[in-house]
Amino acid sequence: MTQEVKQKYGKEDSLIVIIHGGAGPQDPNKTGIEKANKALKKIAKQVVKKLIEGIPASKVACFCLQELEKDPQFNAGVGSALQSDGIPRLSASLMNGHKQSFSGVISATYLPHPSILIEKLQKRRAKVLTSPGTELLARELSLPVHSNLTEKRSKRWLKQMDKADYPSSYFDSDTVGCVIRDLKGRLTAASSTGGIGHEYPGRVGDTGTVSGNYASRFAAVAVTGKGEQITDDAVAARIETRIRDGMSLEEASNKTYQEALTKKRRYGWIAVSNKGEWGVTRTTNLLPYVVFNEKGLVDEFIPDTEIE
Ligand code: GLY
Repeated sequence: MTQEVKQKYGKEDSLIVIIHGGAGPQDPNKTGIEKANKALKKIAKQVVKKLIEGIPASKVACFCLQELEKDPQFNAGVGSALQSDGIPRLSASLMNGHKQSFSGVISATYLPHPSILIEKLQKRRAKVLTSPGTELLARELSLPVHSNLTEKRSKRWLKQMDKADYPSSYFDSDTVGCVIRDLKGRLTAASSTGGIGHEYPGRVGDTGTVSGNYASRFAAVAVTGKGEQITDDAVAARIETRIRDGMSLEEASNKTYQEALTKKRRYGWIAVSNKGEWGVTRTTNLLPYVVFNEKGLVDEFIPDTEIE
C-alpha cells in the first residue's frame, strides 16, 4: 500500500500475520517509517516461524507485542509516550478469538511488558487489571517491574510543556498491534500502547477495551489512533459484528471507513477473517504495517518520497 491508498484488502488460503507500528509514528518522516518497517518485517518473520512450529496464536501475538515494546521507536513498553504529568501509563489487550476471551491491562506505570501480563490474565478470574493489581501480579509472577522512561521521550515531553495549550490534545504517536490467523484458522488480535502523549493524567484510551481490540471465530481487529474517537465508534467490535452478521471483511471495513471519514476521525485498523480475508484501513496519513503469509511478505506500507 502506498501512502495515497487508504484501504488495502487481500485473501490468503492459510496463515496471515499483520503487524502495525501505529497511526502516528514517533518519527513521522521517511527514515522513521523505513526504520519502523524494517523492524516490523524482522518481527513478522519470527512470528511466522513460531506459528509454523505450532505455537498458539495468542502466545505468538504476545511475543510480537513484546518485541515491539522492547523497541523504543514504538509507542509501547520502553519509550512509551508520557502523559501530561510526565508519567508513562501503558495499556494493552489480547483477544483470543477462538475462545472469544478478552484480557487487558490499563494504565500500568512500571511494566515494560504489559503484553506478558495480558497473556497470563487470560487464565485468571479478573482478566482486566489496572494499578495496583498490574504491578502486584507482575511481582507475584516475577515479571520485570521498572520505569519505561527514556531520554528521548522525556525531552519531547519537556518541549511540549513549553507550549501554551498545556495539557493539550497533542498527538505524539500511537498504539502498535497485530492480528493473526494461524494454520488452523484460529484468530487473535493484540495491541499495546503508551496512549497519545501529553494527555490528561489518568486518561484511558481504547486499547484496554473492545473498541480497540476484538476477535471471535469470525474476525480479529486491532485499531490504532485517537482513543476517544475509537471508543465513540466502538470500531473493533463493530467491524467484527458486521463480519459476523454476513458482510465480507472489505464491505465491513469500507462501511466503517466511510463513517469515519464523515465524522473526520483519526484512526486506522488491521483485520483478518476466518475466510482468509485481510485488510488494512486508515483515515490517517501514515500507518506502517506488514502483511505476511507462511511464505513471506505479502504487502507493506510504502511512504511517498516527499515525506521528510
Ligand atoms: N489509541 C491509543 C490511545 O488513544 O490511547
